Amino acid sequence: MTRVRTAEFVGAVGATGQKPPRDLPQIAIAGRSNVGKSSLLNRLVGRKNLARTSKQPGRTREINFFLVDDRYLLVDLPGYGFARAPKNVRKQWGRLIDAYLRQTPPLLGLVLLVDGRRGLTDDDRRMVEFLEGLGTPTLFALTKTDKLNRSGRRRAVEGLRDALGLDEDQLVETSAQTGLGMGTLLESITALVAEAETR
Ligand code: GTP
Ligand code: MG
Repeated sequence: MTRVRTAEFVGAVGATGQKPPRDLPQIAIAGRSNVGKSSLLNRLVGRKNLARTSKQPGRTREINFFLVDDRYLLVDLPGYGFARAPKNVRKQWGRLIDAYLRQTPPLLGLVLLVDGRRGLTDDDRRMVEFLEGLGTPTLFALTKTDKLNRSGRRRAVEGLRDALGLDEDQLVETSAQTGLGMGTLLESITALVAEAETR
């Protein structure tokens, strides 16, 4: 089984124009505020408090970079769609994420998180369209599935697959609480990294 050996915080970017801290392949984790991005990152690398998590939406305000196995960067993005944030702050986040996603060299891929209980939001749909435009390879992860029963999970999976026309292996059911889906996700991530390394 794929496992992470080392993970460490290596830097943050809070304004457009700043460069990532390392020149390494990057995989980003995106999704609306409070969907569970930081929690999923921590669970993926097996380090409880590496990325800061919070019950309060809007916890992660900068783009945070984590070096994994001295080989690639996992990137924790600030969440979008946080309705209570002031307008100018929301605008600034949008610009920051937009500039990050358009960077060169491009991201290897992105994991887009969708809350299993809520389904797709309008912001999610905008994000998906934006990523399609950029051609960024995207994996989808349903989060917090520990809060759903079996039929709820099935409904969430089918709903998302139908809405976005996803392939079977493009969607992973996850829980940062139980660890569900982490092995699968990590395998997809390391496969992308390995492929990039042979280029
Ligand atoms: P922002 O940084 O604000 O964009 O949020 P985020 O997407 O990083 O979410 P975060 O990881 O901080 O988690 C938000 C809340 O959801 C916290 O209270 C977490 O404990 C909870 N949470 C995250 N993942 C799970 C999960 O898999 N299961 C359950 N039950 N709760 C979760
Ligand atoms: Mg966060």
